[in-house]
Amino acid sequence: MRLQGKMALITGAASGLGRATAQLFAKEGAKVAITDIDTAGAAESVDMIKAVGGEAFAYKHDVTQEKEWQAVLTAAHEDMGGLNILVNNAGIGGGSTVEDTDFATWKRVHEVDVDSVFLGCKYAIPLMRAHAPGAIVNVSSIAGLIAGHNMAAYNSAKAGVWLLSKSVALHCAKRGYRIRSNSVHPTFIDTPILDRMAADIGKEALTKKLARQVPLGTIGEPNDVAYAILYLASDESKFVTGAEIKIDGGISAM
Ligand SMILES: NC(=O)c1ccc[n+]([C@@H]2O[C@H](COP(=O)([O-])OP(=O)(O)OC[C@H]3O[C@@H](n4cnc5c(N)ncnc54)[C@H](O)[C@@H]3O)[C@@H](O)[C@H]2O)c1
Repeated sequence: MRLQGKMALITGAASGLGRATAQLFAKEGAKVAITDIDTAGAAESVDMIKAVGGEAFAYKHDVTQEKEWQAVLTAAHEDMGGLNILVNNAGIGGGSTVEDTDFATWKRVHEVDVDSVFLGCKYAIPLMRAHAPGAIVNVSSIAGLIAGHNMAAYNSAKAGVWLLSKSVALHCAKRGYRIRSNSVHPTFIDTPILDRMAADIGKEALTKKLARQVPLGTIGEPNDVAYAILYLASDESKFVTGAEIKIDGGISAM
């Protein structure tokens, strides 16, 4: 029960890493607000949590929309009786070179992957202050720290999440809010994001190809990331802020 009594909002929790994190948080005693544009998936995540005795609520939420952030935070705050953990997880991929990326795609990737984190932090912090200590965990990527030739928009957006997390950490510390902010940086994890990347060569071939790039020799599982988020969200990490955890099987050590 590492999150006993905590109230957490997780974006993009209808699938993949967000769902795994929501399930782990609920298992560790937190109430969880599951938000996503995929309302059916969000409802399914809630059902999965309730089926094992956890407490969860689903909200329709497009993280690029300022007004939706305000409405969802207000509703979740009311339903859970407060808010002290925010996990900005919703995100989309974007795999093309600077020359091949059209401007609309560039803007869309930044809107979903980094503008959303700004909006989430901006509007959650005032609510979280009333229930401190609080923790914000932003899901960046190893691609926010290491560039690839064909990830121009994604590299840029995820690098933005990395440094924004530190700015938020310093702001909250300076104001004495008792809210920490950190980021996690996964490499390839087996989620539906990879299924979409596998369209050309198939899942098995893609998994093998990606695993060859990882020193530990495999791609990751959603819980590999969820456990890092759990640590940063819990009071176990009470002296950790403005930091990043790389969950990359050793890629960035090379
Ligand atoms: N899987 C990986 O290999 C990997 C690696 C590094 C970082 N990440 C990051 O992890 C996060 C989660 O990705 P995942 O792998 O679980 O993928 P996923 O596609 O399974 O989950 C992403 C979720 O975000 C939701 N979403 C997309 N746009 C949204 C919007 N505008 N508003 C609200 N929700 C929206 C989707 O509906 C989906 O449920 C993303 O930020 C991604 O960039 C993933």
